[in-house]
Amino acid sequence: MGPGQRFYEKTCAKCHEAGIGPVIKGRGFPPATYMIIARNGMNAMPAFRVTDIDDATLQDLAEYLSKTKAPEPAKK
Ligand code: HEC
Repeated sequence: MGPGQRFYEKTCAKCHEAGIGPVIKGRGFPPATYMIIARNGMNAMPAFRVTDIDDATLQDLAEYLSKTKAPEPAKK
């Protein structure tokens, strides 16, 4: 697991896989979208500063997320 994925699982997933934020895996967003939203925040989502996640890690995170597939829907 790379540093970006690790950051996602530790931080972004707390909201984005818990129903607080929308699912952001498998959405087909380009890496720049993830980077801009993470740096600027979006309404209830906090902004992540360079002291929270450095540029290299954010780049890695954005590239990782842009390539992910949507999670499997929960089976009933
Ligand atoms: C504290 C909870 C929280 C954390 C942590 C968080 N987010 Fe979010 N995020 C949100 C919420 C809530 C929204 C929806 C904002 C809105 O549409 O009003 C959002 C929206 C987004 C969107 C836009 C999705 C869309 O469908 O428009 C992206 C992309 C995103 N977040 C990426 C990230 C990334 C990358 C991280 C980790 C670096 C992260 N978020 C961490 C709460 C969070």
